[in-house]
Amino acid sequence: MPSDASPPKKRLLIRTWGCQMNVYDSARMADVLAPLGYAPTELPEEADMVILNTCHIREKASEKVFSDLGRLRGVKEEKAARGERMILAVAGCVAQAEGAEITARAPYVDIVLGPQTYHRLPEMVARVSRAAGAVIETDFPAEDKFDHLPETAAPSGPIAFLTVQEGCDKFCSFCVVPYTRGAEFSRPAAQVLAEARRLVAGGAREIALLGQNVNAYHGAGPDGREWGLGWLLREVAAIPGLARLRYTTSHPRDMDEDLIAAHGELPQLMPFLHLPVQSGSDRMLQAMNRGHKAADFHRVVEKLRAARPDIALSSDFIAGHPGESDADHAATLALIREVGFAQAFSFKYSARPGTPAAGAGPQVPEAVKDARLAEIQALLRDQQEAFNRSRAGAVMEVLCTGPARHPGQMAGRSPWLQPVHFDGPAQLAGQIVPVRITAGHPNSLAAEWLGGAAKAPPSHQEIRAA
Ligand code: SAH
Ligand code: SF4
Ligand code: F3S
Repeated sequence: MPSDASPPKKRLLIRTWGCQMNVYDSARMADVLAPLGYAPTELPEEADMVILNTCHIREKASEKVFSDLGRLRGVKEEKAARGERMILAVAGCVAQAEGAEITARAPYVDIVLGPQTYHRLPEMVARVSRAAGAVIETDFPAEDKFDHLPETAAPSGPIAFLTVQEGCDKFCSFCVVPYTRGAEFSRPAAQVLAEARRLVAGGAREIALLGQNVNAYHGAGPDGREWGLGWLLREVAAIPGLARLRYTTSHPRDMDEDLIAAHGELPQLMPFLHLPVQSGSDRMLQAMNRGHKAADFHRVVEKLRAARPDIALSSDFIAGHPGESDADHAATLALIREVGFAQAFSFKYSARPGTPAAGAGPQVPEAVKDARLAEIQALLRDQQEAFNRSRAGAVMEVLCTGPARHPGQMAGRSPWLQPVHFDGPAQLAGQIVPVRITAGHPNSLAAEWLGGAAKAPPSHQEIRAA
């Protein structure tokens, strides 16, 4: 056998649920397993390893894991009958929250690993290959996984994600994240900048900085000072070749003056912000332990609009948190009407084990939750449609992501995160091109390509020098 033999080819299937941080984590797990010979596959039948990267945020999200595990058990047994091995791993927030329950309910699972242990995956795979029993790693290790993960592979398209912050110390009444992701942690700025440069060198035109509480970012700067998110954004925006920058998800409490000012300064920072408010009722915001009132949210929105007049907003809403009255619900509808959202997510409250709200009272009956959610969603749908329709006739720059479903059509993203479709050659993928919007649809925009590529926006350094 040649001494330089590369590891035997194996196939890896990763299924991802939940937030964009899970999408980022899945890519990092693929990076860490690549040196062991694992290449991606979409087919469970040919997978030597399957990882379910799970979400615990609402009951429905959690239950998907167990139904998927049931199906994979059959595939694993069929493979075993043929003398083939399939390693089955459960990662993510369900693994963190329900590690023991998973191995009890699904003893055929080989590995259960929490979000802070992904750098240890190769070692876990080795242990599973040696021993018969399951490996469970759901502690919060002392070492920083980011120091131990390999460098990110080149992004698969022009849009890349970069986790800069993890965890949460806010303990909203309804939320599992502080328990599944642990305490708030910010990556050092130099580490973030190095990763951003690599992503841009690998072809990324747009980067989204990620964190469960991304605007609470307070990483150690290379200058010895602590950097807030505003400063980090300015430095990332200065990377030559990076055209677009976003960050998600933010908390209204952490929208500081410097971060708001960055929206007015940085042309790379896209005029769209996801800023979850959850409710428009001060009584509910207090019960939710959100640490701000409706008026504080309005003030932040006002300042953002003053700094960046074309900014559009997105948010999250919860219908039927324990104790929510008709008047509280009406206050949420009023806030939505007053602010006006370009897009938003809304959810029926889902009691999560171990969170304060799960044991609080009175719980709102399902039928009432359903009715309130429907009202919120109808209003948000109207606002989104109106926002999309209002774009008709506008000329804007679109980042082309790749061919659309119809032959000869390209898909891209507007600065406001709207999907855009237009006739154009496939070579436009990865470019930023000018288009005129011909129609606004409920969930997307139709456009015509105005020819050529758009000029790259000036870098922050160029703006500083001017
Ligand atoms: N870190 C973000 C949100 C993380 S979870 C923030 O602070 O806003 C994404 C969204 O899921 C939340 O904004 C909330 O609207 C929703 N969510 C979280 N827990 C929920 C629960 N128990 N029931 C219903 N929706 C929930
Ligand atoms: Fe959850 Fe609240 Fe933390 Fe957001 S801020 S992750 S909703 S606890
Ligand atoms: Fe879900 Fe965990 Fe993200 S619970 S939303 S995958 S942080």
